[in-house]
Amino acid sequence: MTQDVFEIVGGTPLRGEIRVQGAKNSVLPVLAATILCRGVSEIENTPCLSDVDTAGDILAGLGCAVRRDGSVLYVDSSGLSACEIPDHLMRKMRSSVFFLGAILGTAGECTLTYPGGCELGPRPIDIHLSALQQLGVRITEAGGKLHADARRLHGAAVSLPFPSVGATENVLLAACAAPEDTWIINAAREPEIVDLAKFLSLSGAEIRGAGTPLVEIRGGKTLHPARMRIMPDRIAAATWLCAVAATGGDLFVREGVEAHLQPVVQGLRRAGCAVTADSAGLFISAPGRLRGGQMFTTAPYPGFPTDAQAILMAAMCCAEGVSVFVENIFESRFRHVCELARMGAKIRTEGKCAAVCGVPKLKGASVCAGDLRGGAALTVAALAAEGKSVITDIFHIDRGYENVVQSLNEIGANVRRISRDAGNCE
Ligand code: EPZ
Repeated sequence: MTQDVFEIVGGTPLRGEIRVQGAKNSVLPVLAATILCRGVSEIENTPCLSDVDTAGDILAGLGCAVRRDGSVLYVDSSGLSACEIPDHLMRKMRSSVFFLGAILGTAGECTLTYPGGCELGPRPIDIHLSALQQLGVRITEAGGKLHADARRLHGAAVSLPFPSVGATENVLLAACAAPEDTWIINAAREPEIVDLAKFLSLSGAEIRGAGTPLVEIRGGKTLHPARMRIMPDRIAAATWLCAVAATGGDLFVREGVEAHLQPVVQGLRRAGCAVTADSAGLFISAPGRLRGGQMFTTAPYPGFPTDAQAILMAAMCCAEGVSVFVENIFESRFRHVCELARMGAKIRTEGKCAAVCGVPKLKGASVCAGDLRGGAALTVAALAAEGKSVITDIFHIDRGYENVVQSLNEIGANVRRISRDAGNCE
């Protein structure tokens, strides 16, 4: 069977300009929201990613028509006729669980399988389910499938025990269809939540407080199709910044928004990078060698983003001194550590902590991507390493980054996508 791999010859400073793609973690819930608005919605600046394709497959399975024209996705939800998310699509993209709230809001019921664990550890949905039950949704389980019945959907004050991004999105989506008002207490504050609320508001919902811990959704509104441009992907932006930091170059990251990734920018500045921001994007200039000595502790927004943990760790592998990473969000998000070690990184992990002792240089090696952001981290490390690296299982990377090879080669990298069996190169 053919398997694509990245072949990267590292050691060259990256220079030039890169445009940040539309945000994966915004476009996915916004696509789910389109089924609340009967008719054709237009979603602009949508990245070409396998996760977006999977969301399109879920929409098509529900009876919607999805058409892509460049970076615009047109979703016609007038043909919505089903209310089940097939098991194979749930397994392909566990975060599909936020379709539950949207399907309940339009069809009044939904059947789906448990998303199940993934590379980041068990992905429970208890917070989602208890929040939806507070809205009057009745949930039963049989044969590994969940059936949710929202015929008695009502507004409520829903308190989340943890500011779960997906659970906040699920409540936002379902509450738009409730006849009474809803409050979300301890809501996630990520910029992607604000983007989803923006789309829902453009569709006729009345939402206040998105981006704060208390969000109010007015009940009894009928939503209509809308047109919106997806925000820039802050984690992709963080990835390009870390790649430049690791290779000692300088780069303009067009559409990068400093406010969306403040802890990452702050960390890079403390490590010796000059990072400036204006309305068009972020400019970073990196020193020959980064300074270590910082501790990065992941936390819900506006804290240090868990999705940038692996990526910044890769950049700090050659920093002068020790850097410590504490992963508080996911149970198992250090799979990239052993792969980085194959490139010569010196990293000790203990529970949710990882201590990175900087080495002068990494060496190219054959490594395997274990998850999306771990794969991005290996790419960053390979770009900085001396010699050639081969990264396998890059399907993880394709879930969240579009045009990686072209984008990186345009700023001085030497990356090839090679299909193993066919042996041909991109
Ligand atoms: C979203 O996942 C993102 N995915 C993740 O990005 C991101 O890492 C995460 O938020 C945190 O910022 C999308 O938006 C598609 P959570 P989500 O619910 O919604 C536990 C990437 O790389 N939890 O905030 O699944 C959960 O196990 C991906 O782009 C429960 O215990 O994140 C985790 O430990 C990876 N019960 C923590 O909370 C629940 O019911 C954070 O989960 C729900 C979550």
